[in-house]
Amino acid sequence: MADDNVFVFDHPLIQHKVALLRDKNTSTKEFRELVEEIAMLMAYEVTKDLPVEDVDIDTPVATAHCKMLSGKSIAIVPILRAGLGMVDGIVKLIPNVKVGHIGLYRDPVTIEPHTYYCKLPEDINEREVIILDPMLATGGSASAAIGYLKEKGIDSIKFMCLIAAPEGIERLTKDHPDVKIYCAAKDERLNDHSYIVPGLGDAGDRIFGTN
Ligand code: PRP
Ligand code: URA
Repeated sequence: MADDNVFVFDHPLIQHKVALLRDKNTSTKEFRELVEEIAMLMAYEVTKDLPVEDVDIDTPVATAHCKMLSGKSIAIVPILRAGLGMVDGIVKLIPNVKVGHIGLYRDPVTIEPHTYYCKLPEDINEREVIILDPMLATGGSASAAIGYLKEKGIDSIKFMCLIAAPEGIERLTKDHPDVKIYCAAKDERLNDHSYIVPGLGDAGDRIFGTN
């Protein structure tokens, strides 16, 4: 289902895994595995517009006319911490992908994002960048991460998350209308602590077992 630049995946496998992810009784081990699996399934769709070129491949029998990826390569940039949980699933699908990192945390009182770390591949400006974060709540962290990358001259950016709140989608589409947003579910709203309802709780804590 696509609404302008927002894509919500309704594939049964993804929806099934998201349901398990939301369950408060899901263990840390299962939660991690599910985040990785959903990210891999989503990456398959998120990359479906990558350009390909015609190539001839010699099989043991004859020449096959094939397609291979061409044009810009990809870099993924997880927002620390929780975005890290999505990395391995994508790396399994795209083994040559380069990985940058942005460290942001939401101040629990002001809900404002704070940047504490950034390390990007040297050639990131020549790559299509997919920013990863399981949760798009107020949109403050995602918007700050995208703004940061744009300041570095990166002009080809997609944002991939698992659960998005309407408030975060609105903020991101307003701040960065050029960035496509991919999510596995669009939830109802934020609560008074800016947590997504029904959501899945604190993604970072559930991935790393720190709650
Ligand atoms: C969570 C989440 C996002 C952010 C979303 O991270 O992983 O980065 O909150 O909220 P927002 O849309 O309102 O900015 P958190 O700040 O809890 O840090 P963590 O990943 O280290 O747990
Ligand atoms: N960050 C999370 O991990 N969960 C939410 O619901 C909102 C922000």
